[in-house]
This record gives sequence, structure tokens and C-alpha cells, in this order.
Amino acid sequence: MKILVIHGPNLALLGEREVAVYGAFTLDEINQALTAEAKKDGAELEIVQLDGEGEIVEAIGKARKNFQAIIINPAGYTHYSVAIRDAIAAVAIPTVEVHLSNIYAREEFRHKSVIAPVVIGQISGFGVNSYLLGLKAAVDLLKKK
Ligand code: DQA
Repeated sequence: MKILVIHGPNLALLGEREVAVYGAFTLDEINQALTAEAKKDGAELEIVQLDGEGEIVEAIGKARKNFQAIIINPAGYTHYSVAIRDAIAAVAIPTVEVHLSNIYAREEFRHKSVIAPVVIGQISGFGVNSYLLGLKAAVDLLKKK
């Protein structure tokens, strides 16, 4: 069971970026927590952080050969990237959208996700746990297949 985790733009700055909104943990700490959890579930993770929209589109396109699920935090692209949405729809790999913050409790422009209609589901607002819950959702889905 191979799962691709994509962290979108600016998430490399976690730990120093808007700590009141995103928390004090770093991306490395999230990745360590994810890797430990995946090990328990017998899942193999590949984790990437990509700032560019095109890079994310490319990673999703290539994933169809090697991965059974995707967990993605599209970050700022969530709210307008038709290209990332189309890539997810094109590969038809079950995808879970995650957000550290509750995007619906923030500025109005964050209330809309153009990604949400093409994913299995969205988890928003639980900090690091959004990723861990996303992993659990993806693993359970694949185990039922
Ligand atoms: C985010 C929420 C987005 O609105 C924002 O642009 C991010 C992070 C989150 O994880 O809460 O960069 O996706």
C-alpha cells in the first residue's frame, strides 16, 4: 500500500510561519508523525513538499503508476487551482484533502476549496491531526478495496 503525501506551498516554513494559526510544529515533525503512523498500518509513504503549482500537477500525474492514494494539503492553491483539481480528477487516485487550520473559520476567500469536489473527503482544522486522520481515512479506504 503506497500513499503519496503532498505538502503545498509555504508549508516548509511551518514552525515559524503564523504560529498562532498553524501551530509551532515543523514540517519534519509532521512527517515523522505520519511515517510512524504509516508503519503501524503497514503503509509506505512518499512525502514531498512542493511550492510550484506545475510541480504539484506533475507529481499527481506521475502518481498514477505507483500510488494507491494521495493525501494533499494544497495550501494556498486550495482556493483557486483548477489545474490541481483537474490533475486529481484525471488520475482518479483516491485523494484526501487536509488542512491544518479550519479554512471555514478564516477569511472568506479561504471558505471555498476548488479541490473538494474531486476528493474523497476533506479534513480541516485539527493541526497535525488533520494529516493523521487523513492517513487513517486513506488506509481504511484501501483496506476495504
Ligand atoms: C492551509 C490553509 C490555506 O488557506 C493556506 O493558504 C495554507 C495552509 C492549512 O493547512 O490550513 O497555506 O492549507
